[in-house]
Formats: sequence, C-alpha cells, structure tokens
Amino acid sequence: MIKKCLFPAAGYGTRFLPATKAVPKEMLPILTKPLLQYGVEEALAAGIKNMAIVTGRGKRAIEDHFDNAFELESQLQGTEKEHYLKEIKDIIKSSTFTYVRQQKMLGLGHAILTGEPLIGNEPFAVILADDLCDCKEQSTLSQMIDTYNKYKCSIIAIEEVPMSQVSRYGIINGNLISNSTDTYQVTNMTEKPQKSDSNLAIIGRYILTPDIFKILRQIQPDKNGEIQITDALLSQAKQGKVIALKFKGKRFDCGSIEGFVDATNHFAKKFKIIDN
Ligand code: G1P
Repeated sequence: MIKKCLFPAAGYGTRFLPATKAVPKEMLPILTKPLLQYGVEEALAAGIKNMAIVTGRGKRAIEDHFDNAFELESQLQGTEKEHYLKEIKDIIKSSTFTYVRQQKMLGLGHAILTGEPLIGNEPFAVILADDLCDCKEQSTLSQMIDTYNKYKCSIIAIEEVPMSQVSRYGIINGNLISNSTDTYQVTNMTEKPQKSDSNLAIIGRYILTPDIFKILRQIQPDKNGEIQITDALLSQAKQGKVIALKFKGKRFDCGSIEGFVDATNHFAKKFKIIDN
C-alpha cells in the first residue's frame, strides 16, 4: 500500500518573479486554490493521507495554509461566508502534514533524498505540484497506484511531447508491455537531452520504491551540480524495475507562464466561471 506522498516544494520559482519573491511558487493559485492544494487533493483521491513536504527558506505560507486559522475562522463563523473555508478544512481534517527543509537547492533527486526521514523504508508517491493534472475518471496518481499494485516496482507517469520540447524533460525509452494499459518497461532514461529518438516525457508524478534513497546517495551530480532523480531511476530501470505509464488525462506545466495561463482557462471553463 502507498501511504505517503512526498511534495518537493523548495524551488525558487524564478520564472514567476517578482510574484514568487515572498510567495512560494507552490502557493500561486489556479483560480481560488494554490497549486499545492491541487496536488494534496490528488493524493487524497488516491487514498493517501500522509503528506510529506520538502520546503525551504521563505516557504512558511505552505505550513500556514494546511493548518487552522482561528482568527479568520471565528470571524467567518455563522456568516454566509463560512463555506469558503470548508474545502481546505476538510483536507486538513483528513490528512497529516510533515515537513523537512532542504538547505541547498541541489536538484530534484536531492530534494527527494531530503524527504527520506519523513518517508522511511516504504514505497511512496511523489507529486511535483507545478505539473497540474486533470483526469476524467481516475486521477493520475490513482492510475499509477493501480500499475504499482500490479508490478510492485517504481512507476513513472509519461506523456508524448513534441520532439522540439524533449530538452525540457526527462525522456525515456521503453518496450510497450501492454497496449490496453499503455505501460512500458523502461530501458533507458535521460534527463533533458538535447536530442532524442523518443518523445516519451516524464511528468511530475512518481511512485518510488525505498531502495531509491540508497541509489540517490551514490549518484554523482550532473554538470550543473544537481542530483537527478532520473539518473537514480535509470539504475533501477537497468534491473528491469521501472515501469512507465502513459496516464489518461491532461497535464498543465504550471511551472511555465503559458501552462499556468492554460490551466487557469481550463479550470475556469470547467467550473463555468468563464464561457467556453
Ligand atoms: C523535473 C524532472 C524531469 C521531469 C520534469 C517534469 O524537471 O527532473 O525529469 O520531466 O520534472 O515536470 P524540472 O521541471 O523540475 O526541471
């Protein structure tokens, strides 16, 4: 069973400066909800109740968001505005939140390794909140958990991207093992290649087996001094222990301004805030 979800949330969000100068990028809202709340909702929908968040300096708003706000609540209590807080209060009631701070930004692999004390020795999920997913039936993470229950190894979510964009993603090669479920046995993976013969890109959803921590401790930093989760996963893939799932649904890259605007429009139409 997957009981914990790790949220790396220590990055600077430079592409959104100056908005992210004092506000964590994970707290930027798509309509009325911060990005991270969408991620937490996705984890809850997949049956995960323990949220493990890797934060950094200047990210205290995240902890405050997932906590009671007595003054505000008492102000709104008994008024017609009380319902505005219901959704977040329900989330707080049904989840636990643990935090650890990443001291230095040394890459996604390093952020995940920083979360080890919150996870321990069990398989766990990872959500990168700036990849926002919207799925018709089952959430991305829930689709991945079904795949994990079948293969009991690390699972990554992938989607096809235009060849011109492969340098923005971790790219995999793999052998299709099931047409009906769109799953691949991963044979190779490269972090942000200049060119590739594959356009299967990793999106910000992972299920990792706990041996990943030992591998991450041994991984050499890349040319930018960063420890990449893609390199650690390659080591598992070489032992036949990584499956990629082409998830069913739509993903928005909310780490880019264009993706953020697309996501805002998508949800505004979905919730009929603006016309189609
Ligand atoms: C990270 C991963 C990359 C993955 C991407 C998905 O990159 O390193 O492999 O494709 O997330 O969003 P980042 O976007 O943090 O640079």
